[in-house]
Amino acid sequence: MFDKIGGQIVIDKLVDDFYHIMRTDPEAQECLATHADRDMMESAAKLKAFLSGWTGGPPVYLEKYGHPRLRMRHFPFSIGEAEARQWLMCMNKALKLSSIEPDVQVKLWEAFKQVAVMLSTKNS
Ligand code: HEM
Repeated sequence: MFDKIGGQIVIDKLVDDFYHIMRTDPEAQECLATHADRDMMESAAKLKAFLSGWTGGPPVYLEKYGHPRLRMRHFPFSIGEAEARQWLMCMNKALKLSSIEPDVQVKLWEAFKQVAVMLSTKNS
């Protein structure tokens, strides 16, 4: 998957676009609010590192931050249905801006949806 996507350079652009959309799209406000006290450069760096290993590329996140344990790491944030929907909306827009082949985009999209649902059901 990592190579099909186009490698780290494509992942980095995807994440930069994703966070740019989250910061500027009025429809992503609740999702943006979950990041309120965060350094979003750092959030972006972590997501870039995570997506590398998650798509089968170098395990950058694991090496820098340890096991991802996404559920545990999202626990401090209030993530309900609206936040998850908005996260996915931002990612969908970022995917469309990317050079990733449409069939690979669909696979990534399905995987993102599963994780977002998993992260949002716990406290919604
Ligand atoms: C469901 C909606 C989601 C919301 C509202 C959300 C929100 C957040 C917030 C507020 C942070 C903290 C950022 C920071 O510490 O700088 C975070 C971290 C992170 N998120 Fe999400 N997230 C969501 C879904 C996802 C999904 C679907 C993935 C992966 C496919 C993901 C991957 C990550 C990663 C890897 C981190 C860094 C964790 C860490 O090292 O602390 N998130 N997220």
